[in-house]
Amino acid sequence: MNVLVVGGGGREHALCWALAASPLCGALYCAPGNAGIAREAKCAAIDPMDFSALARFCRERAVEFAVIGPEAPLAAGIVDALEAEGVRCFGPAAAAAQLEASKAFAKRLCAHIGVPAADFAVFADFDAARAHLRARGAPVVVKASGLAAGKGVTVARDPGEAEAALDALAAGAFGAAGREVVVEEFLEGEEASLFALVDGETALPLAGARDYKAVGEGGTGPNTGGMGAVSPAPALDDAARDRAMAEIVRPAVAAMAARGAPFRGLLYAGLMITSDGPKLLEFNVRFGDPEWQALALRLQSDLLPALLAARGGELANFDLRWRPGAAVCVTMASRGYPGAWTAGSAVSGVEAAEADDSAVVFHAGTARRGGRLVAAGGRVLSIAAHGPDVAAARAAAYRAVDRIDWPEGFCRRDIGLPEAAQ
Ligand code: AMP
Ligand code: GLY
Repeated sequence: MNVLVVGGGGREHALCWALAASPLCGALYCAPGNAGIAREAKCAAIDPMDFSALARFCRERAVEFAVIGPEAPLAAGIVDALEAEGVRCFGPAAAAAQLEASKAFAKRLCAHIGVPAADFAVFADFDAARAHLRARGAPVVVKASGLAAGKGVTVARDPGEAEAALDALAAGAFGAAGREVVVEEFLEGEEASLFALVDGETALPLAGARDYKAVGEGGTGPNTGGMGAVSPAPALDDAARDRAMAEIVRPAVAAMAARGAPFRGLLYAGLMITSDGPKLLEFNVRFGDPEWQALALRLQSDLLPALLAARGGELANFDLRWRPGAAVCVTMASRGYPGAWTAGSAVSGVEAAEADDSAVVFHAGTARRGGRLVAAGGRVLSIAAHGPDVAAARAAAYRAVDRIDWPEGFCRRDIGLPEAAQ
């Protein structure tokens, strides 16, 4: 079966890496891909938002199955568009992608069905939001309702910070994504990411993971798309996972089906494990990046039949096998990220980094220029390693990181440390 992966980051590299290993996978394509993905798949320079060009490509190359990586095309209806052209897709239709594309939608749905989550209020009127913030005080969390690449959330420790975040949204820092704002109760606890494959009805959990969102060590500085990840997630033991599946994921899946917008694809519940049990921070509708890079190293089962079963409504009798041990993934980013960064610096040492079998260098934002590998993104490399436990996986990941020669890049050195704040 010919397969197309849509996207061009570290998550999509890890998807291609896993799919390329499937005996069921014929030709593997990726649009647009990147310099590392080109090792696993034929890259096609097509914009993930250009659905008619993607549909044409699928027709020309006899692609039967498309796996959609990022949220933006999902929210814009890529699955509706490609399925209408006869291409089966892994990922939710636009109506179900609302769970990520509108935090206001997700919060209202969850409140309606009693999913444990932070108390909240939604505003389109910034004066009303300001008055609410003043009455409420800090700590408080201010969120752009729409898609903001993981950067639209401010956890405000004091009222000034909360108002500044609101002012930034009002000034258009996140464009249309910030037209509606969610003001939320601050939850205390440890975070974890729970991923489930969903076929419209049945939800099958993956192994747990957690990411590190802040740019700086010890959880300091602004939030990013993710500076690293570890699997399993320390806070998500089997009991917490089963409870989160029963109280959060399955009720949401059932509610979407009942509304006539069944969810098919990967449902990602960002959780806070509080003293009252797991509470939902947010839903995403695709694999987490970089959590998936860590999970990919632990997945023993063939990924392709699992994704096909989610598309085909056949998860009820499906099972996934995981390698024992742990995986750690470290993001190497361009200096300046998540703010402004400069593309084009030379990156070397990738082969040396992969000399150790336990490590894989996934490319998040690279290109080849005149035969040389260069940085082409904020997040540039996603270096993942597997080991018998987190300490071993962490040591292997940083051994690989230290072989990369890229003076213009940086990473956090505390990924996977038990005491590291997110
Ligand atoms: P989100 O994109 O909604 O997951 O938010 C990004 C990050 O902000 C989360 O991973 C948490 O670290 C933090 N966060 C979001 N909502 C809350 C909350 N209600 N309480 C505490 N921290 C939060
Ligand atoms: N790592 C967070 C995300 O993928 O949204």
